[in-house]
Amino acid sequence: MVADDRLNDLIHAARQASAKAYCHYSQFPVGAAVLGEQGGIFAGCNVENASYGLTICAERNAIFQAVAAGETQIRVLVIYTPTEMPTAPCGACRQVLNEFSPDALVISVCDGSDILRATVRELLPLAFVP
Ligand code: THU
Repeated sequence: MVADDRLNDLIHAARQASAKAYCHYSQFPVGAAVLGEQGGIFAGCNVENASYGLTICAERNAIFQAVAAGETQIRVLVIYTPTEMPTAPCGACRQVLNEFSPDALVISVCDGSDILRATVRELLPLAFVP
């Protein structure tokens, strides 16, 4: 569960972050924002590289911002893409989310009216854990 006003803050942060995406290879800007257990919001965008494989997704960027600030418990992650349909997180980002918060809620929003909502457990069943 996430309060409506916090959800609006997360969507706003994810939208703002998507505007900063460094994505001139794919032209696919993504913004993400996580709500930590302490109430903080941490945002990230995708950052691409001429060596394509070095690209980091918006979701992992946002999660790593949270961890760098001392927050390792993630309650909610919002993904925004300026598309007609929402974008689900890639497999690598699901695995990284699972490391910190298998019960986190993931919400994908876009410019259309569809919204995806799922827990990390739903997105990554039978996850690898150490
Ligand atoms: N991307 C994300 O940032 N998050 C995802 O969940 C899927 C893909 C980025 C990576 C790359 O910069 C661009 O979108 C196209 O794949």
